[in-house]
Amino acid sequence: MKLATFEQSLRDYLTRFEYFADRFDYSHRHRTELERLIDQYSGFITDETNIKVWDELEQQGIGRISDLIDGLRKNSARCVAILEKYRALKLQKGDTEITDYFKNIEDCIEKEFGSFLITSKSRVLLVGSGSFPMTALLIAKRTGAPVVGIDIDVEAIELGEKVVEKLGQGLKIRLEKTSVEFLDDLKEITHIIFSSTVADKYALLEQLYPLTNEQVVVAMRYGNRLKSLFNYPMKETDDRKWELVDNVLRRDDIFDIALYKKIIA
Ligand SMILES: C[S@@+](CC[C@H](N)C(=O)[O-])C[C@H]1O[C@@H](n2cnc3c(N)ncnc32)[C@H](O)[C@@H]1O
Repeated sequence: MKLATFEQSLRDYLTRFEYFADRFDYSHRHRTELERLIDQYSGFITDETNIKVWDELEQQGIGRISDLIDGLRKNSARCVAILEKYRALKLQKGDTEITDYFKNIEDCIEKEFGSFLITSKSRVLLVGSGSFPMTALLIAKRTGAPVVGIDIDVEAIELGEKVVEKLGQGLKIRLEKTSVEFLDDLKEITHIIFSSTVADKYALLEQLYPLTNEQVVVAMRYGNRLKSLFNYPMKETDDRKWELVDNVLRRDDIFDIALYKKIIA
């Protein structure tokens, strides 16, 4: 694909994301099209051919299209949050069908903490649990660990609680509308996962340093290069606070995972 065609595809994606995000009214009239768009975009950002074109574009300098990149990241995140709302609402009506995007996320969960395994004795915090908290459900189900999910969107918490009621009976899952620094039992948390579409995740990581215990492990979902069109990218951390202990790159998955441990002075 030529650079001009590639850039035009990005513009077309942005137009479509803005269109669906601005028209979300809970009516499901755009649901199928939005699902298709997100599945298509997930394929686009993991496509080998596009990765090569993106690298060529980066070599020429991407400053020129930085507004387009920011717009894509912001509006694709809005659409993913909407898609989770659709899925939660569908579940209330008994529909459990799952799209490629969700399959991809669920596959990622399997590999989340690499060697820092979650056991029934762990305590997990998920920042940006969303309206369909599948990470919380899968972790609680597979490990027996208590999971707290937080989100800044009150509606995501309300819908998420209904999903947990339906799919997570008996599991130790708590959802709260709060910002991470206000969580009461932060010192007991052993594993933290940041959703990839949380824009301020690195600022929150910085804030968490004095508030968490010494053993805590953080899985930061992120996407660089072409994947940064769908994810907030990795950033440098303060090298007196957080050490990057693993960087799990998955070619076919929509985001990668950076694992951090605390540096103890
Ligand atoms: C769509 S969901 C989960 C998406 C996907 N599973 C992922 O890993 O990115 C992302 C959620 O993060 C929430 N969110 C965004 N910024 C946040 C923040 N600073 N603290 C907590 N939740 C946040 C959004 O409201 C949204 O519901």
